[in-house]
Amino acid sequence: MYSTRKVKEDLIYVGASDRRLALFENLFPLTEGVAYNSYVILDEKTVLLDTVDSSVSMQYMENVEHALNGRTLDYLVINHMEPDHCANIEAIVYRYPEVKLVGNAKTFQFFEQFYTLKDSENYHIVKEGEELSIGKRTLKFVMAPMVHWPEVMMTYETSEGILFSADAFGAFGALDGNIFADEYDYRGRTLDEARRYYVNIVGKFGVNVLNVLKKFDNLALNMICPLHGPILREKEDIDLLVGKYVAWASYEPELQSALIIYGSMYGNTENAAHFLANELANQGIRNLKMFDVSKTDASYIISNLWIYSHIVFASPNYNGDLYFKVDNVIREALALSFKNRKISFITNMSWGGKALKTMQELLETGKNIEFIGEPVEIKSSLKQENEASLLALATTIAQSINA
Ligand code: FEO
Repeated sequence: MYSTRKVKEDLIYVGASDRRLALFENLFPLTEGVAYNSYVILDEKTVLLDTVDSSVSMQYMENVEHALNGRTLDYLVINHMEPDHCANIEAIVYRYPEVKLVGNAKTFQFFEQFYTLKDSENYHIVKEGEELSIGKRTLKFVMAPMVHWPEVMMTYETSEGILFSADAFGAFGALDGNIFADEYDYRGRTLDEARRYYVNIVGKFGVNVLNVLKKFDNLALNMICPLHGPILREKEDIDLLVGKYVAWASYEPELQSALIIYGSMYGNTENAAHFLANELANQGIRNLKMFDVSKTDASYIISNLWIYSHIVFASPNYNGDLYFKVDNVIREALALSFKNRKISFITNMSWGGKALKTMQELLETGKNIEFIGEPVEIKSSLKQENEASLLALATTIAQSINA
């Protein structure tokens, strides 16, 4: 049975959600599932924008057929050739053999790499700014290279200012019947999951994101239809998320406050992290956040690295070096171009090690990363003798936050 929703009179949501998949890209936990969005436009020509992941193929094909309501499919626009969106192109071509596939040269290179079907007589290859009239509506194609793959493009519907934005402006999380951002608590869970999606999937490519956003400076954005997560149609939601994208892509913190990321085998490093957090709170710092690297998946921690201006890494020495899970968070963040932050350190050792040196050497490779305060080194457990150095570190961080 079909499961579609009307977006506008002639624009229909035909995507589907998967709550079974544990890890997106086999990497990122999906605690509340994921939506694979796809849209049908019914004009003089019929258009399908992207397909979906193979996990929801059966539902999807029923949705497309229902949305077309007996008409054939004239165009399939392929904004992104990653398998979570392109897994049903072949099925669509077999079902609607006259369909023209709209993409750029790279789109079709990837299509032929991933799949066996070669349908070159039906390729409609577009370039930057090219338009396609489909009746009352016109689609304009905007290239978005490396957001986050090289072939990515976006499709802008010119008469109403509707942007089909590929992965950009997407979010983790299944759609629960509601498909619009204004039908959710967007500023709560959904925005957090939009940030986690952005940082972990697209975060490395901030420069490219800013370059694409500039292309829309003089174009009305009245609706954004991403490939994951809810559709944005209210100006305040669009302005909020576009503003967040500018901040995230510029690697500018959202909050002047401290994020404390710690690893702790027996609770002693955690004790030091809490002592520091309490003192920061005593000194008036609000919105503090702490994560135990062994408890929280790195994707959530790294998402929070994009929020906070000041970061404290607290780690035991483990086999004489950095605790693996702290090491992993730092390396993943740097691989995503983490930059522009003030960093402080706490380490714990029983007999020695180079955890501090390793953290410093790793983070020195990031751009505009400044180490502040004297690193605090505790021996096995927190003692009275550590109090002064932790208080001093808290004061340095608090003064820097308030500067
Ligand atoms: Fe949602 Fe880049 O695929």
